[in-house]
Amino acid sequence: MSTPLPHKVSPGNPCPFLRMLVAQGLLDDRRASIGDATEVIERVAATGEGAPQLPGIAIRLIALLANGLGPASLLDNGIHGVKLNQLRDGPFDKRGAGSRILDKRARVRPAELERLREFASLKATAGGGREWGLDAAELQAMMDANYARAGATRRVVDRQLMEGEWPILLQVMGKEGRDGRYLSLREVRALFEARRLPARMARRLCTRAWPGCRARR
Ligand code: HEM
Repeated sequence: MSTPLPHKVSPGNPCPFLRMLVAQGLLDDRRASIGDATEVIERVAATGEGAPQLPGIAIRLIALLANGLGPASLLDNGIHGVKLNQLRDGPFDKRGAGSRILDKRARVRPAELERLREFASLKATAGGGREWGLDAAELQAMMDANYARAGATRRVVDRQLMEGEWPILLQVMGKEGRDGRYLSLREVRALFEARRLPARMARRLCTRAWPGCRARR
């Protein structure tokens, strides 16, 4: 069976997880109704280890606010849906206070991706192997360092926003190792570079007979 080509993703979408959902054809980059976006995120999350459940109400709220906090923007998102290709410079864009792995044009900066290793350590996998990964404490250290290096440009809210990014990715894509849950650096790299869901999650999407089954493996 041939692998379908990934869908194009706008540089205006700086979220690695949403970029993967668009690339895999699970969400439309231009408009996604708040209900659809929430459902897709919840269903994909549930394919993670331990079937993580993300709070639908929080996702709805984020999608509602994602393109702007003014009344016109809220009304537009509420009625027509969220514009994933216009998240850049929106309320959740930390403008350089994050990992900086994606540049302004959403191209991967290899040095910033490699920098994750500074915070990571070797993890014992459930199967007895070893791989580089980031656990909850290591992610906190990484987020603190990201916040610190942003210097004068950072806003207090940026550190709070981070709590809805990497720790949620840990919940969703985390693997249960011998010493607890961690994000595999290999899988994080594939998420950013190839906009790919871990194969184990893509497989579960298929076995649940959902159209998202087209997700590339
Ligand atoms: C409607 C839902 C969502 C919206 C509107 C959204 C929006 C964003 C935006 C605007 C950024 C860029 C922040 C920046 O560069 O400063 C971002 C980054 C990020 N998001 Fe999302 N996101 C959503 C859902 C999720 C979910 C469900 C996950 C995890 C499963 C996630 C994980 C991340 C991660 C890991 C980053 C990278 C932060 C960094 O590079 O330091 N997001 N998101």
